[in-house]
Amino acid sequence: MKVTAINTSPRTNWNTAALVKEAAKGAQSAGAEVRYFDLYRQERFTGCVSCFGCKLAPNEGRCVCRDGLAPILQAIREADGVIIGTPNYLGQPSAGFHALYERLVFQNITYQREKWNYHDANTPTLFIMTSNMPEEGYRQGAYAQMLETYKQGLSGSVGPTEVFLSGNTLQVEDYSRYHWTMFDPAAKRERHETVFPEELKRAFQLGAGLAGWRQTV
Ligand SMILES: Cc1cc2nc3c(=O)[nH]c(=O)nc-3n(C[C@H](O)[C@H](O)[C@H](O)COP(=O)(O)O)c2cc1C
Repeated sequence: MKVTAINTSPRTNWNTAALVKEAAKGAQSAGAEVRYFDLYRQERFTGCVSCFGCKLAPNEGRCVCRDGLAPILQAIREADGVIIGTPNYLGQPSAGFHALYERLVFQNITYQREKWNYHDANTPTLFIMTSNMPEEGYRQGAYAQMLETYKQGLSGSVGPTEVFLSGNTLQVEDYSRYHWTMFDPAAKRERHETVFPEELKRAFQLGAGLAGWRQTV
């Protein structure tokens, strides 16, 4: 049982990373061997370069671009479960996430009428998003649509995807250093110390469930 966990926030120890790590711990607690990646610590990488190498017969839906994303794509391919977390940047996942997403999803699309995907998408996936926007802001409108798009994309190319949101996150340790009148630092801190720990527990449970999923099907 292998689980591949990827933090696609450039920050390796903040909200997104903490939730991904906790979900990974949950998977470990259920017996999984976890491979953890900080995307922004990988060698240089790009999004899809439109070489269409993944559509050449011998490659069978495998991206041929050899850069920092290649080991992650390989680890996803070998995984029985995937955990991927991203911050919300300007209403979308991070740019790094999107580079990975392009390569991950496009490689599996065949352009054939008879068969749409090279590989079956049956690896359960946990998609975590963190943001300033509270969870309620994802119930409708642009954020709801955005989440649905990525959920569908991951479900179609990796496997059945569950979404976990953590909103209203603490962005910095010391708000007084910045001219950020929009936020109430005390409320942010309070939430970080009361609600966020509960979210970490939930992430742990979801990770444990992810690892157990294969055994139940
Ligand atoms: C470049 C940038 C853009 C952001 N844009 C949004 C946004 O559009 N909506 C939102 O709710 N939060 C936005 N945020 C806040 C982050 O999503 C939030 O603080 C997140 O939890 C950061 O993740 P991290 O702590 O793992 O780095 C933005 C932050 C940055 C740095």
